[in-house]
Amino acid sequence: TPTGFTKPPVVVTVTGAAGTIGYAALFRVAAGAMLGRDQPVVLRLLELPGAISAAEGIAMELDDCALPQLAAVEIFDDPRAAFDGVNQVLLIGAKPRSKGMERADLLSANASIFATQGAALNEVAAPDVRVTVVGNPANTNAAIAARHAPDIPRERFSALTRLDHNRAIAQLSHRAGVPVTEISGVTIWGNHSATQYPDIFHARAGETTGAELARDREWLVDDFIPTVAQRGSAIIAARGASSAASAANGTIDHVQTWALGTPGDSWTSAAIVSPGAYGVPEGLVCSFPVRSDGTDWQIVEGLEINEFSRARIDASVAELEAEIAAVDALATR
Ligand code: NAD
Ligand code: LMR
Repeated sequence: TPTGFTKPPVVVTVTGAAGTIGYAALFRVAAGAMLGRDQPVVLRLLELPGAISAAEGIAMELDDCALPQLAAVEIFDDPRAAFDGVNQVLLIGAKPRSKGMERADLLSANASIFATQGAALNEVAAPDVRVTVVGNPANTNAAIAARHAPDIPRERFSALTRLDHNRAIAQLSHRAGVPVTEISGVTIWGNHSATQYPDIFHARAGETTGAELARDREWLVDDFIPTVAQRGSAIIAARGASSAASAANGTIDHVQTWALGTPGDSWTSAAIVSPGAYGVPEGLVCSFPVRSDGTDWQIVEGLEINEFSRARIDASVAELEAEIAAVDALATR
């Protein structure tokens, strides 16, 4: 334990640390928003060589916050060094889609990043490592990283759909006219993409049930579902850049829930490796309703899935299968 700290620090590596989400996340992580205000952290910033100077500037700013629980900031351009002994990994850095780039090119560029990082984690990460994938296509990137880390239990990999979950809560709060704290039982199913299915059939919004709200099918189908599922594109159109502070916030919420647990019988959404639950083929990284006991995710079991929901879950799962098939096809090309 470094001098002056009451607990051993948790080592947190953030990839793409000098990017927009990284910049929005690092200061809150360093201030204790993710793992608790009494938990010291060592922050490791992994970047491409061309962004190391920017990472150094961020490290200077972190220093200038004089944060009581920030034990150290270290900068790397080599994944193996950045992941040595790491406990919590935020895989945010990814290749963005550039003009004229086909989806297959994006999948292939990112597949190689996440394969390399998965293999490095397999070799050097701490035995209790937890990996959260944010870089898109997040679900498939997480599946690739997990595949390349055969010695790490695959339950330790999850991908972010908490941003989508929070978006759904905010929309329901507006619709029902109740505070976000009175919304529960929302689930994001499937892929972090426009095919995702935000399910409110088990939700509550204050005194109103989600099933009651869902009786207005026009609102559900033409307003709520597309607003949540296409929110990422709407933000890109409005801001000229993809969501960053809200994505950082979702990432922090996701890891906080995973590491500290879900309160009471509440649940949230996260994309985890399917054990074959709810008819989702085993091995796909799919968003489910989940709880955490502070160590592992557990899928909330026994929810009744109506026909309306089934069709939409199946459509998003079909997209996940197509993404993995495209990656496999590229690997054998
Ligand atoms: P950005 O382009 O601002 O930053 C990405 C950073 O990653 C850059 O600094 C780049 O140098 C770095 N990087 C690229 N490849 C790397 C590698 N191999 N190792 C280390 N660093 C690397 O992008 P951003 O706005 O911060 O978004 C990051 C990713 O998050 C994108 O893929 C974006 O689509 C995704 N995203 C996901 C969600 C979600 O909810 N899952 C939400 C918003 C954005
Ligand atoms: C988001 O959900 O805001 C992003 O994943 C959108 C994107 O394509 O970067």
